[in-house]
Amino acid sequence: MRTVAQAQPNIALIKYWGKRDVDRNLPAVDSLSVTLDSLWTRMSLKFDEQLERDTLTVNGSTAPSMLQRVSNCLDLVAGDERARARVDSTSNFPIGAGLASSAAAFAALVVAADEAAGTRHGTSTLARLAGAASGSAARSLFAGFVELTAGDVEIEVRNIAACASWPLTIIVAVTAEEPKPIGSTEAMIRSARTSPFYSSWLEQQDGDLETARDAVQQKDIAKLAAVAEHNCLKMHSVMWASRPPIVYWNQATLACMQTIRSLQADGHGVFFTIDAGPQLKAVCLPEAGDIVRAALEQTRGVIRTLQSGLGPGARLLEQE
Ligand code: PMV
Repeated sequence: MRTVAQAQPNIALIKYWGKRDVDRNLPAVDSLSVTLDSLWTRMSLKFDEQLERDTLTVNGSTAPSMLQRVSNCLDLVAGDERARARVDSTSNFPIGAGLASSAAAFAALVVAADEAAGTRHGTSTLARLAGAASGSAARSLFAGFVELTAGDVEIEVRNIAACASWPLTIIVAVTAEEPKPIGSTEAMIRSARTSPFYSSWLEQQDGDLETARDAVQQKDIAKLAAVAEHNCLKMHSVMWASRPPIVYWNQATLACMQTIRSLQADGHGVFFTIDAGPQLKAVCLPEAGDIVRAALEQTRGVIRTLQSGLGPGARLLEQE
């Protein structure tokens, strides 16, 4: 039986950066994100006793560099005595370029594998298993506004507000489509080892998270904007001050930040956030969506924009 699951990427407004346990991939800090609706990854999976090893294609091409992580994740869901699997992944957005493609991929993978193996783990467990592969993937199991709490032994992930309670719009300004220069795991380890700002980053995270949670409950865009931008710039400051420095931005990333600043000066409800890549993500009130998108499209260096609302968690699509 072939099983297909779909998940959307999520964008962190309060970031996960740093690991308390690298082997178990446990985040050093809690985080808060929004799950998107119009960008997706679909994972089609079939366990087959005849196969000698797992196979993986991503958008139709074999993907040997991702295969080990996928196999490890399948072992966690279905046990290491499982049959080998044929896994085919398709996404409608750029992979490995700071658009949370691994979050969507591993969230969809655990749902597909759970169904195909008949393990019936439940969403919280699947979130933990996805999180072992990619910390941010745990959040894509849930819809809307999502909080991840990182314990010493395991994570807890939960929805804190539904999509419909505050239907924000996300515009992604794509400024480069090639894969990022350094993966997030290596970058986080380097940040923890070498950045003089890493300890303050850890210390201030709970305060930022509390402010952001309040802002979501109060639907206060100015409050959310201030704390989310501050948290994002702190995360990048940690990276910039690492040795060697980790700089994911390009000139267009900065130009997009200026565009958002002028929109804010004109009174529009919008703010930016940037992850481990050069794309800028603008989060805005739905009524500002058209103007924000047009302004970002006119910003020098922007290749194209993608637009999304808030959406559901990872789910099963079909079985063949
Ligand atoms: O889940 P990872 O290992 O790809 O790390 C994600 C880190 C950020 O995207 C930069 C922040 C976040 O919370 O998603």
